[in-house]
Amino acid sequence: MNKIANTQTAIGLIEQGDPAADGRAFRRCLGQYPTGVTVVTTRNGDKLAGMAVNSFSAVSLDPPLVLWSIRRESKSAADFLEASHFAVNVLAANQVEASQLFGSSNAERFNLIAWSPGEHGSPLLDGAIAQLECRREMVYQGGDHLIVVGHVERYSRFEGDPLLFAQGQYAVAQNHPSLKVAPASPTEPIAERKEASLLKLLSAASQHMSALFQEHRQALGVTAASARILNRLFESPCEFDELERATYLGQDAIEDALTDLIAQGHVVRNKEALFELTAIGRQTSEALAARAAEFTAEKFRGIADADIATAKRVLFDLQQK
Ligand SMILES: Cc1cc2nc3c(=O)[nH]c(=O)nc-3n(C[C@H](O)[C@H](O)[C@H](O)COP(=O)(O)O)c2cc1C
Repeated sequence: MNKIANTQTAIGLIEQGDPAADGRAFRRCLGQYPTGVTVVTTRNGDKLAGMAVNSFSAVSLDPPLVLWSIRRESKSAADFLEASHFAVNVLAANQVEASQLFGSSNAERFNLIAWSPGEHGSPLLDGAIAQLECRREMVYQGGDHLIVVGHVERYSRFEGDPLLFAQGQYAVAQNHPSLKVAPASPTEPIAERKEASLLKLLSAASQHMSALFQEHRQALGVTAASARILNRLFESPCEFDELERATYLGQDAIEDALTDLIAQGHVVRNKEALFELTAIGRQTSEALAARAAEFTAEKFRGIADADIATAKRVLFDLQQK
């Protein structure tokens, strides 16, 4: 493995120094760490307050705690310190305007965006991809900011991609190119390819094909984990344990995927408490199978039938060992 370059030898050093000497340069350095963007809101009596916040962070699952920090000088600070509750709205990629609106001091901000009050009155913004309704639990000193810790009492998660903020600019997320496992380079010496262990090649090929097939799953709105579950349930209804055995997924991944599939109306729990496909689930599963068949035909084009037959026999035999 290559040695990871340290800061002394890294190419392209832009600036460095003591944060006290140049606050702006320090901020630019902190901006190298990307975040999402939220709008944190509250209702203090009759007054509504809200601001764009990217210092939000998850803290704890049990108890469910989150934090964010507010500039002491912010005009909204008093409202957030007086109100018992606040809400965190995680913005979607198409909500740059909402971030700009709540990053400004526009007094009309709540008249310029659709929202509805949460249980304790904190505005929940339409179009956010997550909303967390929190009870203020603690406030800590944090230099020129105050660190607010909230206990999440209720959450909602919606479809959509997050808005990101990095290097002082808005951004959107995309899968890292390395998730698509690079095909073996044609310039790689044949001997090296031959020497790679069969198991390594099997696993690389499977990952590579799965990454390439991702766009088809995405088009049908299912994840890789959901697709495996749909595939298994297409055969027959079954219990959780059987899904674990058949999909090679971990319990958490299965639970998450099942939750999504049930919410999307693809899966139900039947009278015997088995997981079962709905009519929509069967349609999606069939559509996936059809795409998989086309995909396979395309990828195997040009490989001799005899080679495919051998590969199939070897893979089948391996499973019997
Ligand atoms: C992307 C983005 C992230 C921000 N994050 C924070 C933050 O974490 N904490 C904070 O106090 N202000 C943050 N701000 C600035 C506040 O949103 C802004 O100061 C406030 O809305 C203006 O009102 P005020 O003058 O009452 O502070 C952020 C602004 C933007 C655009």
